[in-house]
Amino acid sequence: MDPFDALSPQGTREEVLLGLVGLLAAVLLALVVRLGAPRSLNLRLRAAIVLITVYAAALGGRLAVAHPTARTFLGDLAIVAMAFAFARLAFQLAFDVLLARSRRSPLPRIVRDLSQGSILFVAALASLHAIGVEPGQLLTTSALLSVVAGMALQDTLGNLVAGLAIQTELPFQVGDWIEVHGQSGHIGKVREINWRATRLHTLDNVDVIVPNGLLAKATITNYDRPHCAARRSIYFHTAYSTPPRRVHEIVLSAIENAPGVLETPRPSIVTFGFDESGVQFWVRYFIDDMGRRDAIDGGVRDRIWYSLGRAGLAFSVPNRNLELFEPTEISRQLALERGVEDRLRALAEIDLFDSLDPGSVRRLARTAKTVLFAPSETVIRQGERGDTMFVVRQGELAVRVATPNGDVDRGRLGPGMFFGEMSLLTGEPRRATVVAQSPCELLVLERDAFRDLLAAHPEIARTISERVIQREASLQLTTPAPELEGKVEAQETDLLDRIRRFFGLRSRDVGVTGTRTPPPTDPS
Ligand code: CMP
Repeated sequence: MDPFDALSPQGTREEVLLGLVGLLAAVLLALVVRLGAPRSLNLRLRAAIVLITVYAAALGGRLAVAHPTARTFLGDLAIVAMAFAFARLAFQLAFDVLLARSRRSPLPRIVRDLSQGSILFVAALASLHAIGVEPGQLLTTSALLSVVAGMALQDTLGNLVAGLAIQTELPFQVGDWIEVHGQSGHIGKVREINWRATRLHTLDNVDVIVPNGLLAKATITNYDRPHCAARRSIYFHTAYSTPPRRVHEIVLSAIENAPGVLETPRPSIVTFGFDESGVQFWVRYFIDDMGRRDAIDGGVRDRIWYSLGRAGLAFSVPNRNLELFEPTEISRQLALERGVEDRLRALAEIDLFDSLDPGSVRRLARTAKTVLFAPSETVIRQGERGDTMFVVRQGELAVRVATPNGDVDRGRLGPGMFFGEMSLLTGEPRRATVVAQSPCELLVLERDAFRDLLAAHPEIARTISERVIQREASLQLTTPAPELEGKVEAQETDLLDRIRRFFGLRSRDVGVTGTRTPPPTDPS
């Protein structure tokens, strides 16, 4: 007796064979999945395994039941399951194996989804045809069904078509920063474009999902195309009494090299308007990192604030404050004296003026000014001429010296320290560049104040040069000339000599008998 007949009294030999082949295929695919196909492929293959198992089970069921309707149903189920399993496997083979190998970047999700949808649609038509149902008939027999389906799918189809338009026209791509204008405008980085919507990641660290239909109607700014230098704008006002050109110079030099601001195209500023707040300025600069735009804009605003403050200029806003007191000569003097006392406290923190009588220190404090610097601003530049020195009141500064092998960090300066004294006292170019590392408050002393001081008390030049050399030795700031190495006294005399010559002091007034070094030369 035929073993197949024994196995299946109801079914044919072909059905038994097909069922067994399906079972075998499901087991083989399951093995592939278990033995390490890539994870993404695994998930997709699972659907095919389930379908093939349904197919095998349906055929198995046919062998077991005798009822004709149940047998027909199970047969149809097997056909449909097989058609879909076949379609999925064909799709996987074409897209995940063949196409994935030949392409470097993955296919856009919308293309994948649409191709998969079309293949499954063809499988559905074929399987319906195979089980004797004409798909065309299905659609035309129910006009009502068509109307309902059309209305329900209206938005979905609109999004799908818009998604396809985005893929063809490519107004933006995954990774671009875009702005969607409109009632609920958004700026974000495109993370995904699928058949229904586009996903943007915003600076709030959230995803915003914008339906493709909405994108098709909205105006879109793409910050990364045709190139990724995007312009930023900042507006501010100053008083009418301030010359605009002065503001231009101060602000432009303050924002060049600001973190995140591109060197080219160069930042620019225009006098933008005159209104009740004062003269309006428009600062324009370019950035290429939209993800940091808030931080970059903030840094530029900081620099504008600090630089205008240092120049003694103020922003102007519509102001309705009424000052109802009349400053008298006495109140003005008191305010001035308060400032002098404050600066005296700062000067008392450094030992450079230890030998000065209180009256002379007070005169220095009168002429000194307080200035503020933002982090990363350069206070003095190596090689430049300088007629000021600085006392650090707050903040930290880095000292950098240019060498043939590049810039070398030579240490940090903090509250209670001073710098810039060398150029001020000798007229020689700055020996180092000093850059603010945090917001800094500095006291500036001008050369003219020193000139008056030294004219009245030439003898203090000696103590000042001693203090400078002692400080240099203790901080190991500079390497003295080889012939002066290790001879602190000789270095002091050498510096005293340079100061004396520069300020035109007589040798006997400062207590030296002769000169040791040639006059300073101009390196430029
Ligand atoms: P000046 O040469 O006027 O300008 C740069 C200033 O940096 C210098 O005076 C010193 O006050 C200070 N400075 C601190 N460290 C160094 C250093 N290692 N080399 C040179 N100058 C230094």
